[in-house]
Amino acid sequence: EVWNPNGKYRVISTKSMPGTRWINLLIEQDCRLEICTEKKTILSVEDILALIGDRCDGVIGQLTEDWGETLFSALSRAGGKAFSNMAVGYNNVDVEAANKYGVAVGNTPGVLTETTAELAASLSLAAARRIVEADEFMRAGKYEGWLPHLFVGNLLKGQTVGVIGAGRIGSAYARMMIEGFKMNLIYYDLYQATRLEKFVTAYGQFLKASGEQPVTWKRAASMEEVLREADVISLHPILDKTTYHLVNKERLAMMKKEAILVNCSRGPVIDEVALVEHLRENPMFRVGLDVFEDEPYMKPGLADMKNAVVVPHIASASKWTREGMATLAALNVLGKIKGYPVWGNPNS
Ligand code: DGY
Repeated sequence: EVWNPNGKYRVISTKSMPGTRWINLLIEQDCRLEICTEKKTILSVEDILALIGDRCDGVIGQLTEDWGETLFSALSRAGGKAFSNMAVGYNNVDVEAANKYGVAVGNTPGVLTETTAELAASLSLAAARRIVEADEFMRAGKYEGWLPHLFVGNLLKGQTVGVIGAGRIGSAYARMMIEGFKMNLIYYDLYQATRLEKFVTAYGQFLKASGEQPVTWKRAASMEEVLREADVISLHPILDKTTYHLVNKERLAMMKKEAILVNCSRGPVIDEVALVEHLRENPMFRVGLDVFEDEPYMKPGLADMKNAVVVPHIASASKWTREGMATLAALNVLGKIKGYPVWGNPNS
């Protein structure tokens, strides 16, 4: 699909993206926009090389693509100056290679914070209250009437929410769980989450003044402390060498038998084989997963686990957010082509 065929700058989007604002932005600024309409979901390096061709000023790409040495050198040879991932995460992008070939890299932080945190909160609730299992039971016509033991789950109020990686998304999630369900907080991050701490303190004071039990917070000295103490744990680190299999067999064993683990970051942060084994051996342990180690696949056995809620990497999938991500991605590419500052820059 080609927009503004006579535009001066050739910009490629490897996928169609929601909304029209991003398209208008590019075409109003003299770009010839080519949107790839290839049916297959994940484009290979070869597919993208063919799209780049001999002349290309910038590319908007997706987190499913492998943006490394091969693509950045080709983009640079084609005169390309900019690449933007339509994602906040950029573990699929070799930023060093991009720098080497003089291609600026952008990502799309900010607009997906609340949407992603809302999905992490949804998965926490779905796991705690066994919503998916109960839904399947109902649809299968198995409901014969109210029973004292039917789908008994966990009450969140007064329990402890654990956040590993208290950046933008982790902090927004923590705030939702604290304010929504009056949970106490324990978090682990290399940096102090000062604003989050202030929020919990102020909210705790408000609860106290209202005659309610105040909520508390603690910055853990180690990740293990969070795993041992929290009832619901949500993972929000970036994926790199240091966070690969951060949650492994040993660390799963440290968690409470009835804990809930939520992952909306990247699949390889959890050793999924170890997780399946843990779920099998601990039926009261539950997970809510948006991401998987080998997307689009799940490790064998995971799909059979009743104590797992699984969704297909949709944490940022609200209309407002996806349109915002598309707009930021277009601005990143346009900005570099036109010499404006790049909005999201993983180097900064
Ligand atoms: C991201 O942005 O990194 C998410 O995984 C998709 O929105």
